[in-house]
Amino acid sequence: MTLRAVVRGVGHYLPERIVPNSELSHLVDTSDEWIKTRSGIERRHFAAEGETTSMLATHAARAALAHAGLEADDIDAIVLATSTADLTFPSAATMVQANLGMTRGFAFDVQAVCAGFVFALTNANALILSGQAKRVLVIGAETFSRLMDWTDRSTCVLFGDGAGALILEAQDQDGTSADRGILSADLHSDGRFKDLLYVDGGTSTGTIGHLRMSGKEVFRHAVEKLAETAHTALEKAGLSGEDVDWIVPHQANIRIIEGTAKRMQVPMERVVVTVQDHGNTSAASIPLALSVGYDRGQIKQGDLVVTEAIGGGLAWGSVVLRW
Ligand code: UT7
Repeated sequence: MTLRAVVRGVGHYLPERIVPNSELSHLVDTSDEWIKTRSGIERRHFAAEGETTSMLATHAARAALAHAGLEADDIDAIVLATSTADLTFPSAATMVQANLGMTRGFAFDVQAVCAGFVFALTNANALILSGQAKRVLVIGAETFSRLMDWTDRSTCVLFGDGAGALILEAQDQDGTSADRGILSADLHSDGRFKDLLYVDGGTSTGTIGHLRMSGKEVFRHAVEKLAETAHTALEKAGLSGEDVDWIVPHQANIRIIEGTAKRMQVPMERVVVTVQDHGNTSAASIPLALSVGYDRGQIKQGDLVVTEAIGGGLAWGSVVLRW
């Protein structure tokens, strides 16, 4: 018998306001055509005034709990991936804990920007395998619209807001690659690339700041590093690209998604794509895509799912799990 962290529930939440590309072309010198062809994005959701990351996260958490048929007090830990917490502290995760009425267990945030959900899943898996928790609510939630410089057309057209959540549960499995649950993970960061994608605010400036990105450079790293980390994670699980039912990638750019799938030799029919509807929601993009992919009937129990993401840091990684 081998303990595995198995998906017990999934859910997501998107703010009501949908912003099509055409709306942004009134703000900066851009066009629907440019945004669509360079990124694949057609629309994104923006949080309402006063709607915070922890609020989006709470909606997604409730949806995942309902899907799992569980109550908040059935959960031992909340791990929330975000770079846009409501406040510098306390963590958005503890705010979600309070919102859910959860009076036991523990909650904390993980900050690895767009790779945050992969890091959060890996942390949650470790909590389960080390016996710290039996059920972990893993959330990715962001309000990146709050970090945009609305005069910078090279970034402000790319990002959106949203949240997704998974519930992982400790279950005994056989100890083979046919098991349900998280089978392997592969994480990396390289701080030498910190200037390629960052927010120019924080305690050093006393301001919240704006997102700054060298898009072309990040793009180059993404295509190269994502396929490599996915390959390594698959290898650790004793699997290969042929075994993959679904790639659920970070949704930053359709060209990166296609380039990575090609390098992994996985056809696009086996990739969950939501970038057209959500834009880049940073740490929320993978759980959103998992939840939407599940709702669409794409991801089914027993399917082998590979998630991969890269973002500021640079930080990147991949998690292989059987749904
Ligand atoms: O989630 C974290 C990880 N982030 C990513 O993975 C993002 C990675 N990067 C990308 O997705 C792409 O690099 C972008 C979508 C950001 C940009 O695509 P690109 O093909 O690399 O375009 P570019 O930056 O080379 O810009 C091409 C041209 C430039 O004009 P010139 O210098 O060739 O005259 C830009 O000024 O497009 C111009 N441009 C725009 N034009 C219309 C940049 N932004 C826009 C815009 N509308 N919004």
